[in-house]
Amino acid sequence: MELLRVSLAAVALSPLILFGVAAAHPTARSIARSTILDGADGLLPEYDYIIIGGGTSGLTVADRLTENRKHSVLVLERGIFQNSSSVTTISGGSRGLFDPSLTFNINSVPQAGLDNRSIAVIGGLILGGSSGVNGLQVLRGQREDYDRWGSYFGPNSDWSWKGLLPYFKKAWNFHPPRPELVSQFDIKYDPSYWGNTSDVHASFPTTFWPVLKLEMAAFGDIPGVEYPPDSASGETGAYWHPASVDPATVLRSFARPAHWDNIEAARPNYHTLTGQRVLKVAFDGNRATSVVFVPANATDHSTARSVKAKKEIVLAAGAIHTPQILQASGVGPKQVLKEAGVPLVVDAPGVGSNFQDQPYVVAPTFNFTKFPFHPDFYDMILNQTFIAEAQAQFEKDRTGPHTIASGYCGSWLPLQIIAPNSWKDIARRYESQDPAAYLPAGTDETVIEGYRAQQKALARSMRSKQSAMYNFFLRGGYEEGSVVYLHPTSRGTVRINRSDPFFSPPEVDYRALSNPTDLEVLLEFTPFTRRYFLETRLKSLDPVELSPGANVTAPADIEAWLRSVMIPSSFHPIGTAAMLPRHLGGVVDENLLVYGVEGLSVVDASVMPDLPGSYTQQTVYAIAEKAADLIKSRA
Ligand SMILES: Cc1cc2nc3c(=O)[nH]c(=O)nc-3n(C[C@H](O)[C@H](O)[C@H](O)COP(=O)(O)OP(=O)(O)OC[C@H]3O[C@@H](n4cnc5c(N)ncnc54)[C@H](O)[C@@H]3O)c2cc1C
Ligand SMILES: *[C@@H]1O[C@H](CO)[C@@H](O)[C@H](O)[C@H]1NC(C)=O
Ligand SMILES: *[C@@H]1O[C@H](CO)[C@@H](O)[C@H](O)[C@H]1NC(C)=O
Ligand SMILES: *[C@@H]1O[C@H](CO)[C@@H](O)[C@H](O)[C@H]1NC(C)=O
Ligand SMILES: *[C@@H]1O[C@H](CO)[C@@H](O)[C@H](O)[C@H]1NC(C)=O
Ligand SMILES: *[C@@H]1O[C@H](CO)[C@@H](O)[C@H](O)[C@H]1NC(C)=O
Ligand SMILES: *[C@@H]1O[C@H](CO)[C@@H](O)[C@H](O)[C@H]1NC(C)=O
Ligand SMILES: *[C@@H]1O[C@H](CO)[C@@H](O)[C@H](O)[C@H]1NC(C)=O
Ligand SMILES: *[C@@H]1O[C@H](CO)[C@@H](O)[C@H](O)[C@H]1NC(C)=O
Repeated sequence: MELLRVSLAAVALSPLILFGVAAAHPTARSIARSTILDGADGLLPEYDYIIIGGGTSGLTVADRLTENRKHSVLVLERGIFQNSSSVTTISGGSRGLFDPSLTFNINSVPQAGLDNRSIAVIGGLILGGSSGVNGLQVLRGQREDYDRWGSYFGPNSDWSWKGLLPYFKKAWNFHPPRPELVSQFDIKYDPSYWGNTSDVHASFPTTFWPVLKLEMAAFGDIPGVEYPPDSASGETGAYWHPASVDPATVLRSFARPAHWDNIEAARPNYHTLTGQRVLKVAFDGNRATSVVFVPANATDHSTARSVKAKKEIVLAAGAIHTPQILQASGVGPKQVLKEAGVPLVVDAPGVGSNFQDQPYVVAPTFNFTKFPFHPDFYDMILNQTFIAEAQAQFEKDRTGPHTIASGYCGSWLPLQIIAPNSWKDIARRYESQDPAAYLPAGTDETVIEGYRAQQKALARSMRSKQSAMYNFFLRGGYEEGSVVYLHPTSRGTVRINRSDPFFSPPEVDYRALSNPTDLEVLLEFTPFTRRYFLETRLKSLDPVELSPGANVTAPADIEAWLRSVMIPSSFHPIGTAAMLPRHLGGVVDENLLVYGVEGLSVVDASVMPDLPGSYTQQTVYAIAEKAADLIKSRA
C-alpha cells in the first residue's frame, strides 16, 4: 500500500515534495554492482529457462533456479538497473511513484461507477519490479485466505496456510523490534511465524510517532477487536507489522539486492538482459519454445529478436502485463484475440478476467484538535527544523525518524465488527446473486463458474471472524483516515488493445463498484470509521471530521462522496492468470503451468485467484519461492 496519495487537509503535495530530502548512506554495507549483458548480442542461442520480467517474483525464481549452477537461466526485463535514492531510501515510502524512469503509469478505462474517472494504473518498471517502488509495508493475509485458494481444487491441495507457511519463512528474514519500542508501544510479535535466513528483510524503525500507542489501543475499545500474537499469525485484529527494510543498511530491502546483486558474477549460468520489452511467447504446436522481444524504446517489430528456452518459459511480468503478453501470444479469450488479429494458440477465457485490486477509500478523515504529541507524522512533511534534525541524526548513526517507512500498524477487521447489524444480510444478499449478473456481458461460462465458486467462498469470508474486510492503516499524525477494502466483489478485466496488441499498454478496467455488494460494504465503512474516532478513547483528542463532513450521513450522500473520491487500487493487482481448475476459468494449474500448452508457467501476482486480506508483497515472495520448488521438481 502506498499512502502518500492520502488527501492531506494541510496541502495536496506530491510525494516527491513530501519526502524530498534524500538521506545519505555513509555507513551502508558495500554491494558490488553485478554485470549485466550489454545487449542482445551477448545472448546464448538457448537457455534452459527464460523468465519474462525481472521483478519481485521473477528475480526470486531466477535466484533459486540458478543456485545449483546446473541450469542456464535468462531474465528479460523491460526496465533497467536503477539504484537512486528514490529507490533505496525508506523514509516515507515510495518516492519514485510517479517517476517514469521507475514506474509505468497507464490510464485505466474510465470508471462508470466512479463518475467516469480514469485511474492511474502504476507498477514498477525497473530491475526489482514493484518491490523497488512499493510502500514497504510487510503484511501476511489470514489463514483462511490461503486455505480458500486450495479449496478451489478440493480438500487436499497444498495451496493452504499450512502448505505456504514454510515458503513465507523461506522468503522473509524477520528482525524483531527494539525492546524499548516493544514496551513503549505494547507491540506483540512472535518470531516463530517467520524465518531468519532470507536476504529479503523485514524490520522495524528505531522510533515511532508517539500518538500511535493511543491510536492502537483505541481499536481495543471496539467490541470484538483482538490483538493477535504476530502480524504474520494469519488472524484478524489490530497489530504492528514490519517493513521491507534491511536493518544493516537501513535501505529498502527488495528483490534486486536480495536475489540478484552480487550473484551473477558467481553464476555463469545466469544471464540478465535489461531494457528489453517482451512482445510474446512463440509456440511450436502447443509447446512454448521461444520469447520474442525488442529494445524497450522500440515502437515497431523491426528490431525484434527471439531466444529459445529448452525447458520452460516463466511469466513474471506482473498482473497488468502478464495477461497482455499471454493474449499477444495467442493464449487468451478467443473473441478478443480474433478482434486483435492475433492467431489463437489456445482459447483461455480466464486470461485477463478476474482482475482485482483493493480499493483505497479515504474513509472519513479526522483532525485531532487537541493533540498533546510531538513529534508526529506531519513534522516529517512540514516542519523544516524537525526534518533537518532528523537528517543529521540519520547521517550520524542511521537512527531516528528517517528509519520510519510508510506504515507499521493498523487494524484488519472482519465484516461482523464493521457492520454488526447488517453483516448477515450483506453476506446473504451477496450469496444469492446470479454469478453472471455483474460480470461483463459475454463472460465465458467457465469464468462465470469460477466466480460462482468465489462467491460461495467469499460469502463465507464475510461471515467469518477470521477474515478481514476492512483495513485502517495508521500513519501517526494529527490527521488520520486511510481505509482499504480488502476483498472487493467486483471483477475487472485487462485486455490487449485490439488495434495495437503489442506496443500499446493494455486496457485496464477495474469495473469499480460494478457489483452492488461493494457499495453495501463500503457504506458500512464510513459509520464504523466514525465510531473509531468518536466512540473510543480517541474522543479525548477532540476529533473533528474534515471529510466528507459530519453532515454527510444519508447513504445517498455518502455514496456520492465515495464515487467521487474512491481509488479502486492500492497498487495490489492480482487474479488475471488465476490458479483455478480449468472448468472454473483458471489459467494455471496447481503447478502454475498454463492450461492447454506445454512449457509455460506464471509465477507472479496474476496467479492469486482472489485477494488475501492484506497487501500483496509478502505473499508474492512466498508464491515465488514455492514456484521455484515446483519448477525444479519438474526439471
Ligand atoms: C506503488 C506501489 C506500492 C505498493 N505498496 C505495497 C506495500 O506497501 N506492501 C505490499 O505488500 N505490497 C505493496 N505493493 C504491491 C507489491 O509490491 C506487488 O504485489 C508485488 O511487488 C508484485 O510482484 P510481481 O512479481 O507480481 O510483479 P512486479 O514486481 O511488478 O514485476 C513485474 C516485472 O515485469 C516487468 N515487465 C512488465 N512487462 C514486461 C515486458 N513486456 N517485458 C519484460 N519485462 C516486463 C516489469 O518491468 C517488472 O519489473 C505496492 C505496489 C506498488 C506498485
Ligand atoms: C545501491 O545504493 C546503495 C545506497 O546508496 C549502495 O549502498 C549500494 O551499494 C548500491 N547498490 C549497488 C548494487 O550499486
Ligand atoms: C459517464 O459516461 C457515460 C458514457 O459517456 C455517460 O453516459 C454518463 O452520463 C457519464 N456519467 C457521469 C456520471 O458523468
Ligand atoms: C533462526 O531461527 C532458528 C529456528 O527458529 C533459531 O533456532 C535460531 O536461533 C534463529 N537465529 C537467529 C540468529 O535468530
Ligand atoms: C532507443 O535507444 C537506443 C539506445 O539508447 C537508441 O540508439 C535508439 O535510437 C532509441 N530508439 C528509439 C526509437 O528511440
Ligand atoms: C487540526 O487541529 C490542529 C490542532 O491539533 C489545528 O491547529 C488545525 O488548525 C486543525 N486543522 C484543521 C484543518 O481543522
Ligand atoms: C518543529 O520541530 C522542532 C524540533 O523538534 C520543535 O521544537 C518545534 O516545536 C516543531 N514545530 C512545530 C510547529 O511543531
Ligand atoms: C489503442 O491503440 C490505438 C492505436 O495505437 C490508440 O490510438 C488507442 O488510443 C489505444 N487505446 C487505448 C485504450 O489505449
Ligand atoms: C455539508 O456541509 C458543507 C459545508 O457547509 C456543505 O458544503 C455540504 O453541501 C453539506 N453536505 C450535505 C450532504 O449536507
